[in-house]
Amino acid sequence: MSLTAYDLTGRTAFVTGAAGGIGRASAVLLAEAGATVHCADRDADGLRGTAELIEKRGGTARTHALDVTDRAALAGAVRTCERLDVMAAIAGIMHSSPVLETRDEDLDRVLDVNFKGVLYACQEAARQMLAREVRGSIVTMASGAVDTGGPGLLCYGAAKAAVVQLTKTLAAEVGRHGIRVNAIAPGWIRTPMTERHDQRAQAHTEGMMARMAPLGRVGEPDDVAHAVLYLASDASAFTTGQILRPNGGVAMPW
Ligand SMILES: NC(=O)c1ccc[n+]([C@@H]2O[C@H](COP(=O)([O-])OP(=O)(O)OC[C@H]3O[C@@H](n4cnc5c(N)ncnc54)[C@H](O)[C@@H]3O)[C@@H](O)[C@H]2O)c1
Repeated sequence: MSLTAYDLTGRTAFVTGAAGGIGRASAVLLAEAGATVHCADRDADGLRGTAELIEKRGGTARTHALDVTDRAALAGAVRTCERLDVMAAIAGIMHSSPVLETRDEDLDRVLDVNFKGVLYACQEAARQMLAREVRGSIVTMASGAVDTGGPGLLCYGAAKAAVVQLTKTLAAEVGRHGIRVNAIAPGWIRTPMTERHDQRAQAHTEGMMARMAPLGRVGEPDDVAHAVLYLASDASAFTTGQILRPNGGVAMPW
């Protein structure tokens, strides 16, 4: 074994949610590892920013401005990859509402983006890998919310729990073809998503998370991007159907 196991030279990766936060950090790191990276997001300006970052570092990026809930658009973008080695389905939204105040439309929206958007990406990637006999890697983005639950997390946590089930099921179905499927369940990561909380709530939650984490801090997007690179690369060649938890050691915060 050597560090070449992390080398993605000659490979192609597709990253959803690549316009910012964890998706952007992951796209940039996969490109640094040598992959051509297809960046997809509904935020076209953010996508351009990610592509510039990749190209400034000598990498190769393609951009696809699309909504992950649009199956046809996602399928069309995945088909532009001549060969797909890595799918990182990272796009997601946050939603918080108490169970008794949760409306059907909240649940539908969060399941559409956070579950169906990931399902479509997994289906398109697996189909293409199977058709071209590529022993690829699919990485999905769950959340620590799956382990902990917590007030307000019904919609978000339900969608992420469904992502975990999808990951384990697909891993069992395509493993014989050499395709690996793993999930990442990050703890609190400082990104535009968490920065959208009002400042006082954010400072409170960050302080609480940092106190609960044995490592004594919240996470940065790169902490998760390194987990994505590990699962995307041959370094994790014998790993499938797993949930990797970059969370500073937080186990059950509630
Ligand atoms: N930040 C955290 O603490 C944390 C913790 C656990 C899991 N996660 C998960 O990690 C992933 C990335 O989160 P982040 O913190 O980087 O969030 P972010 O808001 O910073 O980035 C999410 C990206 O997804 C894109 N996106 C959202 N809906 C989309 C749609 N329908 N179609 C296409 N693109 C869409 C956004 O435009 C954005 O660029 C999400 O799935 C999130 O649930 C985040």
